[in-house]
Amino acid sequence: MNLEMLIHDFTNRFGGEEGIMTFFAPGRVNLIGEHTDYNGGHVFPCALSFGTYAVARKRNDTKIRLFSKNFEDFGTIEVDISSLSYNDANDWANYPIGMVKIFRDAGYQVESGFDVLYDGNIPNGAGLSSSASIELVTSVLLKSLYNLDIDMIEMVKMSQRAENQFVGVNCGIMDQFASGMGKKDHAMLLDTNTLKYAYVPIKTKGITIVIANTNKRRSLSGSKYNERRSECENALKALQQELEISSLGDLTEERFDAYQHLIQSGIEQRRARHAVYENQRTLKAVNALNAGNIQLFGELMNASHISLRDDYEVTGIELDTLVEAAWENEAIGSRMTGAGFGGCTVSLVHEEKVHKFIENVGNIYEEKIGYKADFYVVAIGDGARQI
Ligand code: GLA
Repeated sequence: MNLEMLIHDFTNRFGGEEGIMTFFAPGRVNLIGEHTDYNGGHVFPCALSFGTYAVARKRNDTKIRLFSKNFEDFGTIEVDISSLSYNDANDWANYPIGMVKIFRDAGYQVESGFDVLYDGNIPNGAGLSSSASIELVTSVLLKSLYNLDIDMIEMVKMSQRAENQFVGVNCGIMDQFASGMGKKDHAMLLDTNTLKYAYVPIKTKGITIVIANTNKRRSLSGSKYNERRSECENALKALQQELEISSLGDLTEERFDAYQHLIQSGIEQRRARHAVYENQRTLKAVNALNAGNIQLFGELMNASHISLRDDYEVTGIELDTLVEAAWENEAIGSRMTGAGFGGCTVSLVHEEKVHKFIENVGNIYEEKIGYKADFYVVAIGDGARQI
């Protein structure tokens, strides 16, 4: 990203050159631990080196003017700090507007407005958390512009709250956590129940992370995500008749197997099985990685995909085609990543095989699905910050 160009665009649009600050927050890819973050389980994401940039400057009045180079057709969106509410017509800008509202509601002193220009290099709607990156880049921007005394974990929580309460997407905390707390060359093992976390170096010696985009657009606010959440909540209630647990993440596989009969609905039983097994699988995968057993890590990624396909039912033909093609083309491990229903897969591939891998998987996908997939060979970057 050319920062000078962005600053130039900012001054063209909003005038003046004084008082400009620049910020960045990354997207994320989750290596394993899917649909566990609202079930009190573990996740294992890492921040990407691409994400959303923001150029911003404080104003003396109460106007907030927002422009995104990713949504130029919407032009400059203007709101007043005294009346911040969700508005369909504001489209993408509801994310930053929601952040300001959540900060103010929490008592942080954001009393004047600001001008901001965003530009992101994450594909939108691909499941790589472009929205979390807008939330986090807005958080760090508010912190710097208004000299707020707030730490990153708090900003992560406020970003999730903006998405839950303002935008109305009932997401867990993984995406915001990864975007805020990311560390170069490390993945993060996060216990979403306690928010305890540990950085794990990804020894990429000879191993490359390849993301493949189905290019099938998915909408998180779509009912399916919230439907899975309530299926898990129902299953938990059924188990709580006899078990003293506060989330599905409290269960081992053995304990779940012994009590799953309490869940009347077969569908809810399978959803809960995924949540319990995926959480345990995430812990096993991180142990394998720490022990240098990348092969086992890959096998657990594959098992994660099968569980998301068969028990959780969030994959679909596009994701399955990419993953099966990856398995056939010597991926160490491959699975869907993010919410599912379209979006991306993540594969671990031996460095010297990446070129052939992308070519083969791309061909198989296009032949079967009728349009192309996109591939990104990614680097793991740092979390949200002023730059
Ligand atoms: C989306 C949500 C996350 C998480 C994943 C599935 O990315 O925003 O909180 O639930 O789906 O693991």
